[in-house]
Amino acid sequence: MTTNQQRNDAGRVRIFDTTLRDGEQSPGISLNKQEKLEIAQQLARLGVDVIEAGFPITSPGDFESVQAIAREVHGPVICGLARTSKQDIEAAWNAVRDSERPRIHTFIATSDIHIERKLQTTREDVKGQVRAAVAQAREHTDDVEFSPEDGSRSDVEYMAEVIQIALEEGAGTINVPDTVGYTMPREYAAMFEELYRLLPGLHDVVVSVHCHDDLGLAVANSLAGVEAGCRQVECAVNGIGERAGNASLEEIVMLLRTREPALGLWTGVDTTEIARTSRLVSRLTGYPVQPNKAIVGRNAFAHEAGIHQDGVLKERETYEIMDATTVGLDSNAIVLGKHSGRHALSTALKEMGFELDGQALNTAFKRFKELADLKKQVTAMDLEALVTDELREEISGFALQWFEVDASSLRPPHARVAVLLPDGGSAQGSFTGDGPIDAVFQALNAATAISPRLSDFTIGAVTEGQDALGEVSVVVEVDGATGAGQAISTDIIDAAARAYLRALSVAVARSRAGDTIGLPETAGS
Ligand code: KIV
Ligand code: ZN
Repeated sequence: MTTNQQRNDAGRVRIFDTTLRDGEQSPGISLNKQEKLEIAQQLARLGVDVIEAGFPITSPGDFESVQAIAREVHGPVICGLARTSKQDIEAAWNAVRDSERPRIHTFIATSDIHIERKLQTTREDVKGQVRAAVAQAREHTDDVEFSPEDGSRSDVEYMAEVIQIALEEGAGTINVPDTVGYTMPREYAAMFEELYRLLPGLHDVVVSVHCHDDLGLAVANSLAGVEAGCRQVECAVNGIGERAGNASLEEIVMLLRTREPALGLWTGVDTTEIARTSRLVSRLTGYPVQPNKAIVGRNAFAHEAGIHQDGVLKERETYEIMDATTVGLDSNAIVLGKHSGRHALSTALKEMGFELDGQALNTAFKRFKELADLKKQVTAMDLEALVTDELREEISGFALQWFEVDASSLRPPHARVAVLLPDGGSAQGSFTGDGPIDAVFQALNAATAISPRLSDFTIGAVTEGQDALGEVSVVVEVDGATGAGQAISTDIIDAAARAYLRALSVAVARSRAGDTIGLPETAGS
């Protein structure tokens, strides 16, 4: 394995994580400040170079989350997104200014279709806006990034003129996005080669890729960009993001690591934190990871065919190009039992990076004891799931008080539920459904007086074994607004009911807010 000393600085690729900004723009995802902070702390442990913490102008909630991350998360650069307007730049700066390493990322579209149809302005006006925005941002900080939105569909000569202005005003990072996931690797690389030819000044700054996955090419395009000389990759954990998502962080990082001998490129990421980061993001966003997802899917390191199993037993590398431990899939060493006390729990949690005290530790301890009564061994994976579930409990909205289900093969199942309402009141509902979970969901609809469309429902298990914690993800739609929720429990019906109410709470809040991300005017993806 190549050591850091042997590595050439010219091959160092910066990882710019946009899980909390572009990732949070996925339909149905709505993270509160505490959840964003938790993810940002984990991203710092993962060793990303930049955390794009949000788009501060979009809502007071986003502003406060970015500000909290800027104040509390140490290590990575903390970045806030801004359009080119004065208010956007001021909001971004005020949100990130308390970070040890603040960055303002400003963007405006440079493709004709965006300029004419969306912005309804002219190429000249866009140039003026870029000059003013980058200059304004540079008054606040030396670390300014500029993105010509829809860069891959822009006239490259015009885009080069716009980038030249950003360079003259002092932008230190130039990111050229494939906003709509349209480009192909060869084309994207050729575009960067042309930009480097037209703009010698690009060699003195960091050039960055930002790819969406509409054609399933986000990672391939990102690789083409770094092979053409770019040294920052913008990506999101589990590939979440607008529409089909962003380039997946774990895929690009493991691609660079696994093929380092061929590429001579490397990142500063501690890859053993990848699996845990993926699980945290999946649980807090309510977006499950597909089983066959590269690197972090449940089956990514599983071998089904006998011939493969035989080969791997004889020599792992016959069928495995990566060792599961390099992405942190061996992290189940911590084991507690029902006799473990509060101190043992707190130490185990600390080892895993969770600093819990006071009421939070009391609640975690109570849930741990309940679990330990049902399960012989409580592992690190179980603890991680419990703590993350508790964080989700803080969502304001509907909460499950109790449920009761009569299920039998002789008659249709009947469910009764009681729900705590957002105004502090309580309501009950009952229903006879097709199956026990259907009956509970319908009873919850009756109690909340809302009838959402169920668009996704997934059941999984946190660990293996019959006594494993069940994990349920639900996505619902209320008046066109989507909400995602996830919950864990040893009782799968309890997990389903709580995941459903979380998803419902998010969807209702989004539908009341008009399902926008709160922008005063239209903005990019
Ligand atoms: O996809 C995109 O163009 C973006 C920009 C704001 C960088 O997300
Ligand atoms: Zn994007």
